[in-house]
Amino acid sequence: MANNLLKGKRGIIFGALDDKSIATKVAERCVEEGAQITLTNAPVALRFGEIQKIGEKLNAQVIPADATSIEDLENLMTQSMEILGGKIDFILHSIGMSINVRKKKDYTDLKHDWMQKTFDISAISFHKVMQTAMKLDAVNDWGSILALTYIAAQRTFPDYSEMAESKALLESFARSFGYHFGTKKKVRVNTISQSPTWTTAGSGVKGFQEFFDYADKMSPLGNASADACADYCVTMFSDLTRSVTMQNLFHDGGFSSMGMNPAVLGMEG
Ligand SMILES: NC(=O)c1ccc[n+]([C@@H]2O[C@H](COP(=O)([O-])OP(=O)(O)OC[C@H]3O[C@@H](n4cnc5c(N)ncnc54)[C@H](O)[C@@H]3O)[C@@H](O)[C@H]2O)c1
Repeated sequence: MANNLLKGKRGIIFGALDDKSIATKVAERCVEEGAQITLTNAPVALRFGEIQKIGEKLNAQVIPADATSIEDLENLMTQSMEILGGKIDFILHSIGMSINVRKKKDYTDLKHDWMQKTFDISAISFHKVMQTAMKLDAVNDWGSILALTYIAAQRTFPDYSEMAESKALLESFARSFGYHFGTKKKVRVNTISQSPTWTTAGSGVKGFQEFFDYADKMSPLGNASADACADYCVTMFSDLTRSVTMQNLFHDGGFSSMGMNPAVLGMEG
């Protein structure tokens, strides 16, 4: 259902890879709500992802940018302002990658140069995006910046490995930069902590199916879907949430508040 919540707004969406990506769902919902957007992803993802098709469908230009490169980010922001005809109102950071997870390295045997790459791509890139946007004065007053995160930042989920530390860092950047962006430009910065979701990044985690089912049972509302996450992002980009900033917002069907659910033990009813 479209309500024109983002009419006249301009946005940049990072991380749409294919039709399962959370960022793709967010991009679709933003356009449905009246926004004009540009899409971006790492140059290598442009080669084998479906992003060009997604861009055509949404009438959105695709601009390659490695989110760890300041030069790429400067080019992305400058081009986006030109294409969209003005400063940006919202940004979604939907980026995560760990070579240690991909190579199934045990947490007690991680390669630390890979770990640094994980932090750079999955967390420090968020600081780089915000710093570049601020330096170029690319964001309108009362703009909204979001990153997607996971509850492993607060609790231990062994198979999530070093992505847990990435997400803790990401959430901390949201709070710290949120202070500076809020004070200078009234721009809000938040993270949304999403349920396990079937995507390329999500399903790369060991035992994902079992874990997905467990979280679904544990949550009174069940796992939050990617479509529901897109709805939540739209509200966070809209003018209805102008005073929400520096928050980690759980979008998880209640999972984060649960201790034990009889359903998990097969004791319900
Ligand atoms: N899927 C889940 O279960 C889940 C749960 C909570 C949070 N998240 C978070 O949601 C976000 C999106 O992930 P997703 O599940 O939609 O998977 P996805 O694989 O579709 O998206 C991850 C994206 O990161 C991009 N990326 C990787 N390296 C990059 C780089 N150097 N520069 C720019 N982009 C780069 C990939 O190309 C890809 O588009 C991630 O931050 C992820 O951690 C996912």
